[in-house]
Amino acid sequence: MLVFVTGASGWIGAAAVDELLAAGHQVAGLARSDASAAALEAKGVTVRRGDLDDLDSIRAGAEGADAVLHLANKHDFSNPAISNAAERAAVQTIGDALVGTDRPFLLASGVAGLNQSGPATESDLSPYHGPESPRGGSENLALEYADRGVRTVSLRFAPTVHGMGDHGFIAAIAAVARERGVSAYPGEGTNRWPAVHRSDAARLVSLGLEKAPAGAILHVVAETGVRTRDIAEAIGRVCDLPVRSIPLDSAQDHFGWIGGFFSMDAPATSLATQQLLGWTPTGPTLIEDIDAGAYSVPTSARV
Ligand SMILES: NC(=O)c1ccc[n+]([C@@H]2O[C@H](COP(=O)([O-])OP(=O)(O)OC[C@H]3O[C@@H](n4cnc5c(N)ncnc54)[C@H](OP(=O)(O)O)[C@@H]3O)[C@@H](O)[C@H]2O)c1
Repeated sequence: MLVFVTGASGWIGAAAVDELLAAGHQVAGLARSDASAAALEAKGVTVRRGDLDDLDSIRAGAEGADAVLHLANKHDFSNPAISNAAERAAVQTIGDALVGTDRPFLLASGVAGLNQSGPATESDLSPYHGPESPRGGSENLALEYADRGVRTVSLRFAPTVHGMGDHGFIAAIAAVARERGVSAYPGEGTNRWPAVHRSDAARLVSLGLEKAPAGAILHVVAETGVRTRDIAEAIGRVCDLPVRSIPLDSAQDHFGWIGGFFSMDAPATSLATQQLLGWTPTGPTLIEDIDAGAYSVPTSARV
């Protein structure tokens, strides 16, 4: 298959592209910069230049491919409305381009906010509808296309897709710890974050492309919930920093934009995904990765 990938140069995208190429697929990747274009070309990816706001380029990329994997995101955490609007517009553009084709359309989503009473499962429907909601309500919007001849598959990633070189949420939390001289956790630190290693996530993306049916919701989750206190203690251990609790109502002040995320309790399981696709996570756990030094030195974390 020729797969059009947005976000092909990103943390998850780069690993997913490697999996797709190894599985014998061809990849066309959206790139907004010379550096991203060069990185993609070096691995044999055809480059389509364009920005998330360049909907003509995204439409043409989707129309010219056998499948679309949408992973690009502006990640403007200080002004989420900007990211949400771009995400919704891109998803609508891709969906419209694929109507009636039965082609796969895989898009990134998350597991937070799905279930208040226990670990979220693939059966929990997203409460996020409409442009004002998190991620612009893009999962529900994309799933509507499953009734219109599009093989929509939602990839609900754990909030940390971890590994060596990660610049995501855990890197941001470690950066705050280094800056403040203390590795902190919110409240009791009993709130939980699901986690998945990058290699397991990339393998599941490839499996989902090949085997998941229209309307499938996949939980890209290996660990149901790692306590934030355990995360903070591991960061304190490898960065040689004291560890302490921060009152919940001070989390935003202490951590900045990441405080809201680090305070959430969002356990999630992936049993249905594992059974559907025969996927078994085999990568290191989050704490193993922290202990192995994945977050010991500063990276270009999203701070
Ligand atoms: N990583 C996680 O732990 C995690 C957890 C839950 C959900 N997710 C979701 O999974 C998806 C992929 O995440 P990631 O961690 O791989 O993100 P990432 O490393 O930040 O990569 C983002 C990708 O989007 C591209 N991009 C950003 N702004 C763009 C724009 N205006 N126009 C075109 N491309 C743009 C980037 O291109 P450049 O390389 O040129 O910057 C990069 O390829 C995102 O939707 C994210 O929200 C990730």
